[in-house]
Amino acid sequence: MKKIQISPSILSADFGQLGIEIKRLEDAGADMIHVDVMDGHFVPNLTIGPPVIKALKKQSSMIFDVHLMISPVHKYIEAYADAGADIITIHPEATDDLNLSILKIKELNKKVGVSLNPETKIDTIIEHLKKIDLVLIMSVNPGFGGQKFMPEVLEKVKKLRDIKEKQELNFDIEIDGGINFDNSKTAIEAGANILVSGTTIFKSNNGDIKKNIELLRSK
Ligand code: DX5
Ligand code: ZN
Repeated sequence: MKKIQISPSILSADFGQLGIEIKRLEDAGADMIHVDVMDGHFVPNLTIGPPVIKALKKQSSMIFDVHLMISPVHKYIEAYADAGADIITIHPEATDDLNLSILKIKELNKKVGVSLNPETKIDTIIEHLKKIDLVLIMSVNPGFGGQKFMPEVLEKVKKLRDIKEKQELNFDIEIDGGINFDNSKTAIEAGANILVSGTTIFKSNNGDIKKNIELLRSK
């Protein structure tokens, strides 16, 4: 059983002082930093790009778990790798050739993740599972923090875990969207080993992020 890791999403952080927020997360025991990149085209929201990631990476030794909600994504992969992303996660719908984009990320010596929106089936990526390091299961429709968890995606987590066990694969299963203290245990029991959380970590218990990270991990 893989260690449960917490990847706080900085989408819920104070964008006016992201460097300080990332340091807070590091001191609070986060395992990595989930960076939600949005282009206002693949999703109806716009956040940050390579220059900000590059600046933040200079201030932190944390693993940057970069979630690219952008399309087209292939031609921008190198820019995020150069900016300091350690894990680059893309959406199948955002590239004309998923295999080529996966190989591009691997060629740049980065860990590669593929993200499934709530309505996207596992069949879309089944042939790639041997090549990837992480599957990111969206438990909300991507674009915004603070949305309600969609429990129906847990069936996909369970199915992925079964495939992983049957085929003796080693990819991480990360779940992202609406994760809180009431559903984190169910997500872990279904097979997720990395939990993304923004709102719950930054807003619960008067913003005690250390306590919130420990609570999510300890379920
Ligand atoms: C949504 C993002 C998620 C989101 C999680 O598109 O991919 O990472 O920020 O935030 P919460 O935990 O607030 O749902
Ligand atoms: Zn995300």
